Amino acid sequence: MSGPVGRRRLLRCLAQWACAFLAVPLAQRPTSILAAAGRPKEEDMTSESAIPTIDPYRLPRHVVPHRYELRLEPDLASARFSGLVTISLTVHQVTDTILLNALDLAISSATIDRPNTQPLTATVEMEAATQRCRLSFPQPIAPGGWRLHLTFAGILNDKLRGFYRSTYTDLAGATQTIAATQFEATDARRAFPCWDEPDFKAVFATTLVIDRALTAVSNTRIASESVEGGKKTVRFEDTMKMSTYLVAFIVGRIESTAPVFVGPTPLRLWAVPGKHALTRFGLDIAAASLKFFEDYYGIPYPGDKLDLLAIPDFASGAMENLGAITFRETALLVDERTGTHGELERVADVVAHENAHMWFGDLVTMSWWNGLWLNEAFATFMEMLAVDAWKPEWKRWETFAVSRAAAFSLDGLHSTRPIEYPVRAPKDAEAMFDVLTYEKGASVLRMLEQHIGPAVFRDGVREYLRTHAYGNADTKDLWIALGSVARQPVPELMNGWIFQPGFPLVTAELQSERELRLSQQRFTYVTQEPASEQLWHIPIQIRLSIGGREDYRRLLLTERDVTVALPAGVTALFVNAGGQGFYRVRHRAPLLRQLIDGGLARLAPIERFNLVSDAWATTVAGLMPLAEYLHLTAQFKEERDKNVWTVLLDSFSFLNRIITPAERPALEAFVRDRVEPAVKDLGWDPRPGESDLTRQLRGELLGALGKLGNDPATQRQAVDRYRRYRTDPASVDPNVIPAFVKILAYLGDAARYEEFSQHYKTAATPQEERRYLFSLASFRDPALLSRTLSRTINGEIRTQDAPFIVSAVLGNVYGRELAWTFVKTNWDQMDRLFPKQGLRRMCGGIVALATPALERDVREFFASRHIDLGGKTLEQYLEHLRVTVAFRERELPTLKDRLKV
Ligand code: BES
Ligand code: ZN
Repeated sequence: MSGPVGRRRLLRCLAQWACAFLAVPLAQRPTSILAAAGRPKEEDMTSESAIPTIDPYRLPRHVVPHRYELRLEPDLASARFSGLVTISLTVHQVTDTILLNALDLAISSATIDRPNTQPLTATVEMEAATQRCRLSFPQPIAPGGWRLHLTFAGILNDKLRGFYRSTYTDLAGATQTIAATQFEATDARRAFPCWDEPDFKAVFATTLVIDRALTAVSNTRIASESVEGGKKTVRFEDTMKMSTYLVAFIVGRIESTAPVFVGPTPLRLWAVPGKHALTRFGLDIAAASLKFFEDYYGIPYPGDKLDLLAIPDFASGAMENLGAITFRETALLVDERTGTHGELERVADVVAHENAHMWFGDLVTMSWWNGLWLNEAFATFMEMLAVDAWKPEWKRWETFAVSRAAAFSLDGLHSTRPIEYPVRAPKDAEAMFDVLTYEKGASVLRMLEQHIGPAVFRDGVREYLRTHAYGNADTKDLWIALGSVARQPVPELMNGWIFQPGFPLVTAELQSERELRLSQQRFTYVTQEPASEQLWHIPIQIRLSIGGREDYRRLLLTERDVTVALPAGVTALFVNAGGQGFYRVRHRAPLLRQLIDGGLARLAPIERFNLVSDAWATTVAGLMPLAEYLHLTAQFKEERDKNVWTVLLDSFSFLNRIITPAERPALEAFVRDRVEPAVKDLGWDPRPGESDLTRQLRGELLGALGKLGNDPATQRQAVDRYRRYRTDPASVDPNVIPAFVKILAYLGDAARYEEFSQHYKTAATPQEERRYLFSLASFRDPALLSRTLSRTINGEIRTQDAPFIVSAVLGNVYGRELAWTFVKTNWDQMDRLFPKQGLRRMCGGIVALATPALERDVREFFASRHIDLGGKTLEQYLEHLRVTVAFRERELPTLKDRLKV
């Protein structure tokens, strides 16, 4: 188990039924006009318990839309919009009511017509609890084709969902507004009334009426543009048949690059004015990955153009709207010369990921949110393939091990869930965007790909996409496509990974010199519960060292255990060779010893990563003595792989969270002992010909030595070199700058705080801005940390970032109690202010509150406030915290002795 979970994903929580189907009365008097009363009230994260009836969140299927003609007129100055939509639909069964989704909209008229029939006017009732609107017609509507016309109005909200408002300061210092959309999972209904479920695919023909000085972008090319008075009417081409959550429109003073053509597709990057210099890298990976995917999928890009837009306020990382992908700035705009390896990798990942969705997600879409993994796991898997093909030297699949470990960390909890999991309420759909959907999903796809072979896997994917293009699909459809190409029973192999929670721990044990016993059991951290009976079909690859020679064994472990015959003369063996299996391994004595004695350098880096990661996880689970783990870490002084170090350093940080000040000097000395040799060897300056990964490693080791190791010499150098960097930025390798900033904040006083605050405000790149912003959470002085916290709710820090800053202070051992008090005190305000995803992420920070007293208080708070974060999110955070505190209770008494070096 590593630190506050996962670099980018939301964990999910308690499967209560949230916000539910209340006895909210329908509008008392059915009227065709519903007043738009002030700002819409956001559903908050406090649950109102209620008894669900059958699926109040789904729409009936007897009326099916196929085309939306949508006309919207946003007024950026007053933050309002008005709209008109004509929906062509088919009525399959005579009815006098139509139910569709709408939320926080004032619908002022609803009529239905068809040629040669008198139009019928409906009364409109909004059902806020289920986010639907009910149209009641004065007489039955006969089966057949109809056109439904709705006029409506709404507010450009500031919650970064639906049709929302983003602001920025332009080059002249004036505040400018952008209107943008974010519809996934269920927020198209906030912008226009619609059948807002992924399998109601339709064609969208959008027209935007905007100020003539502004620019509008939507999913397709502009079909026509005309200006009248101060207004510009921009009509866009029809989209392909697609889901509502993929519709997008962006309006504002934004600028694009010149198009780059990938075949017939013009590709452009968009940003607020003045950021052109930051577009090169994003364009490169966008073009390269688009081309890669066309080849891999064997299907041309399904849109008519591709725009990638950086939006100053953006809740998640990016969104795969067909042809108009939106990003937060840090995920798209970067300066190749000053970006660290990690920052560049992030941009490449996100761009490749969203491009991958143009097929997986946009062309073929999951039928319902329970199958979200079909979108997200695939896009994550494809992101790795594309980035790996683009920059093989980045070793993307090796670094992916860090993501796989984040999935293990959550999936080892009892409160985990299967990858595919029932979803009803919108809140539960949102909670599906977590490390299980993304990282576990991508890991099991990778395992399958390696098992059936990359070419067979690709052909199966092509078959799946061809079969379901412009439609929807379920997990079984994927198995059918893959199985038909692989000629293997894919469901038997895969269902256990998709429909069961958790993952196996494989124990490898020598029964005799010539017999290896492999057994599987579900991995869990807390072992009091009865052992699980679950089994998986596990593709296992074993490497045998026979003297100086190597040999491999492959098998599919389907039973609880199996005995494998070994040839004579095996001196060491390694289970999960190649490292792509989604299981942990315990090499029992003497196997682990043999591996170490044989030389860890003989293992591939990803295998060493797994060895350490598995050892650490089994230590936290109480299956390996802590002393043994700490001893093992001493074997890695020669280690120069960035990922292996990531897991080592994560485990040291974990210890830092559970100790008291009394143990801290011992931990610092321990960290110095482990890290110093590598730092000495690598030096402070990059060497000619060195890889990007090594440069990144240098930065991480320096950061660890300066902070966790509290090493004065490192701190002094960091201060000196930072000063040099500020006067001559080009003189220092970018990869060490984050470490310097972190160390200086750790040591910093009020003057340094001012300085970093200033850099945050005047940063030249989104990455630099982010770095200085987060540094404000790394100081130790409570007065300074309090200032940081108050800036998260007073408007100084964008709400896209604020929850992450709170979470970072929760993760700062010098600030966590302060931050926790702040969260308790200001919960209601945060609930109102922050995007829901952000709030959920912020709560993830509680896993760092690793003392028994804090844990009690945390439980008390969430229970008494009836907080529900959707799905099982909260339950998972709390269990993660429980595991950490249990570890503390078990290990703390003897920890100081164990840390002696
Ligand atoms: N479809 C998601 C965007 C999204 C995330 C919508 C959460 C609604 C809720 C998009 O494709 C995505 O996965 N974005 C990631 C970045 C990606 C590189 C993993 C994100 O926003 O973190
Ligand atoms: Zn995605």
